[in-house]
Amino acid sequence: MEAVKIESVSVVFGNFLALENVSISVGSGTLLAIVGPNGAGKSTLLKVMSGIIKPAAGKVFLFGDSPELYRKKNPIGYLPQQQNLNMDLPLIVSDVVYMNLAVRKDISKKEKRLMVAEALNNVGMFDLRNRIFSYLSGGERQRVMVASAMVNMPKILFLDEPNTGVDIVNQDDFYDFISHLAGKHGITIIMVTHDVGVVSSYVDEIACINKKLYMHDKVGNVDINEAMNTVYGKTDRIVTHLPNNKSCFSCPFKDFGARTSDDIKS
Ligand SMILES: Nc1ncnc2c1ncn2[C@@H]1O[C@H](COP(=O)(O)OP(=O)(O)OP(=O)(O)O)[C@@H](O)[C@H]1O
Ligand SMILES: [Mg+2]
Repeated sequence: MEAVKIESVSVVFGNFLALENVSISVGSGTLLAIVGPNGAGKSTLLKVMSGIIKPAAGKVFLFGDSPELYRKKNPIGYLPQQQNLNMDLPLIVSDVVYMNLAVRKDISKKEKRLMVAEALNNVGMFDLRNRIFSYLSGGERQRVMVASAMVNMPKILFLDEPNTGVDIVNQDDFYDFISHLAGKHGITIIMVTHDVGVVSSYVDEIACINKKLYMHDKVGNVDINEAMNTVYGKTDRIVTHLPNNKSCFSCPFKDFGARTSDDIKS
């Protein structure tokens, strides 16, 4: 069954048509990159898929259910596009991640604290867990936000420009990390990115959006330069990433070089 399916979705803000008749299906365990120019409706598409906003027309399904129904029964991960965070909040890093677990009644406080520690460990931020969140650098904050989106161990993860502010070495690590989550653990990941070069190296599928869906296909079938010319207009040659071996991201399922829960407890 498709993890995410939308049918003939249109979104209107006042008189402005942000998305027009978009239909797309994403299979379980797929890592899909959504690309397109500024204002193309990429963030809007993620918000529709995750049930944050309702479309003016069309249908949305997460594993066959409406987003509202699905989210009553299952967590989803959603990393919003980086916004200006309130710098005056006196929260420490662990608190920020804990907030996403706070409402869950099915797990104990002790378990929640352990899940927070593991999520921070998975993005290489465990050692900074007691820092004031607003004192972190932009890239560090973004990694904490990724931990926050992952802490519930969702089967569907929406990432809106997750690498904003993350340095180049850690970007490759990050893409390795999410490609592993999708490929080995069946997490469906839908990621908006402007990092077009990454698309061919790490993701399974790519979708080009500019109000309408221009293209959606397996990455091997896509001529990236041609696709970009279609949605962005004329572009220069696109530089592709070369993966490297260092990693500060580790898999929450413990087979990607993660420290164990015992390490975290001690
Ligand atoms: N709540 C809203 N009210 C009015 N207009 C909106 C709203 N949200 C988005 N828009 C408009 O819809 C269009 C698509 O916005 P969206 O944020 O989805 O673009 P995007 O593709 O994510 O762009 P970027 O690459 O800059 O993040 C933009 O023109 C934006 O101004
Ligand atoms: Mg956006």
